[in-house]
Parts: sequence; C-alpha cells; structure tokens
Amino acid sequence: MSAGDSAAVSAVEGKLAEVSTNSDLKSLPKRGKAASGRTLNTAQIQLVARHPEVYEPCDDSFALVDALLSDKAQLLALQPSLCLEVGCGSGYVVTSLAIMLRQLGSGTHYLATDINQHAVETTQATLEAHGIHADVIATDIVSGLEKRLAGMVDVVVVNPPYVPTPEEEIGIKGIASSWAGGLNGRQVIDRILPAVRELLSERGCMYMIALEDNDPLGICHLMNEKGYASRVLLKRCTEEESLYVLKFWQDPTAGSSASPSAKSPGSESSWISQLPFRSFWQKNNSSS
Ligand SMILES: C[S@@+](CC[C@H](N)C(=O)[O-])C[C@H]1O[C@@H](n2cnc3c(N)ncnc32)[C@H](O)[C@@H]1O
Repeated sequence: MSAGDSAAVSAVEGKLAEVSTNSDLKSLPKRGKAASGRTLNTAQIQLVARHPEVYEPCDDSFALVDALLSDKAQLLALQPSLCLEVGCGSGYVVTSLAIMLRQLGSGTHYLATDINQHAVETTQATLEAHGIHADVIATDIVSGLEKRLAGMVDVVVVNPPYVPTPEEEIGIKGIASSWAGGLNGRQVIDRILPAVRELLSERGCMYMIALEDNDPLGICHLMNEKGYASRVLLKRCTEEESLYVLKFWQDPTAGSSASPSAKSPGSESSWISQLPFRSFWQKNNSSS
C-alpha cells in the first residue's frame, strides 16, 4: 500500500468512525422502545399494520431504517424520483423512507413489492395509516416490472430473506418466505441483485441487509465486478445475528481490475471506493 493509499485509508476510517459513533444512531432506541424516539423521522410502530402471515418489524428492519436515517442527507441530495422496496412485509421500511424524504414533496414516487399477498395488503394499510401513497405490487422480486422500470429507480431498499435454510423452504407461501434464504441464506439475495441492477438509474443506489453467514464481503466483490462500489453503513450485533447494512452505487471504474487489490492505471477510484468496506470489515472482524 502506498503512502497515498494509507492516507486515504485513514480518511475513510475517520469517516466510518463518524458513522458508527453518529449521535443520531447512538440515541436511536432498539426494538420495543422504537416508537417514541423516532416518530418524527420514521413510521410509527403503533400505526404499522400486522397480520399473522406477515413479518413484523424486527431488529433487521430497524437496522435498515437506522442506516437510511444515517444516510438521510445523501438521500435528500440525490432527490430520487423513484424509490423501491423489494420485500416490503409490513411496510415499515418503505413508509419510513417516505417520511424521511417527505420534504422532497410529490416529485418522489414510491413502489413496493412482496411475494406475499398478505404483506401487500399490510403495507397498504401501514402507508394509509401514515397518509403516504405508494404503489404496492404482489410479485416475485420485480417480476413484470423489468421493462417499464429499467434504469429508472434511484433508491432501492431490501431486507431480504437471508436465513440459511434447507433449499426446500424457498418458495413456501406465507411467513416462511420472510426468512427462508436457502444455501448460505443467499438463494433469494442472488436473484435480487441482478434484478435490481437492471432497474437502478445511473445515479441510483441500493441499501441491503445481509447477515454474516451471507458473506457480505463476497456480495460486495460480486457487485464490484458488475460496476458497483460498496460501503458498510451499519453493523449491528444482536443476540442472534450480526447484521450489516450494505450500500451499493454505480462506479464507472469499479470492476475494471481483476480484484480490488489489483490496482491498475485508471482503477484508482475503484480501489479507493472499496476501502471503506475493507477497512471497516477488517477492523470489525479482527476484534471478534
Ligand atoms: C425479512 S422480511 C422483511 C420485511 C420488511 N421489509 C421489513 O424489513 O420489516 C422479507 C420480506 O421479503 C418477502 N419476500 C420473500 N421472497 C420474496 C420474493 N421472491 N419476492 C418478493 N418478496 C419476497 C417476504 O414475504 C417478506 O415480507
């Protein structure tokens, strides 16, 4: 690593320290106490609709919303025209996103999909309870929307089914589809990634939850090969799991080298765009 690179690493680590010690994040309550502290910026937990066959907002949902809150300034600066949630469940996340960005007014449209019809109805009820409009569609990932939305979506948020399960559990109807992720919890994730890449606009970005078992570093490498830079916005360890919120955005120089460490002329920004992830990753994993 050159002196220039190590300066870049320090700068980036400083930024990550800022993210992880961000006072907004620190003061955000965890599950259970969620409602009171965040009602101004997120959906109100008591207004979130419920159904026995629909995933209720949980630690992962809160981690995703907290990461979005920590990136709110960037989201507002992006002035997204179209935001999409894949796998909306109760609607807590898409509703929170719309509340966070409400100052952008009617120029921002929201779309949500879920394979579970009950989730579609529950999300509609949650949106309505908050006075927010979004189109909610029952479909497999974004099936049927590919042509109409190709290259048009500016923000995608996903809390996918990520739990490693036997393959047979994939595709089971109802609440099991909320968590069943198949081998390494990657079966649905690996279908979501290429589908979302087709929809993202040039300036678009995706926020996605991943579990340690899903190999988030591998996901970032895979996205890098497809021209996306990545960053860990948030890491949260609960009693049951280590959750990561990953952010991806297009980087014209990403994927131009065989690996992020194989620096070649013209690939400087690709390499540097990987550093936040790498330094954060190394720091968090060397201590565990
Ligand atoms: C972990 S839950 C997340 C729910 C909600 N976004 C949240 O954060 O609380 C995953 C959601 O993805 C949905 N889902 C699973 N497989 C899907 C697929 N192939 N296409 C669309 N949605 C899917 C499930 O029905 C479930 O609502």
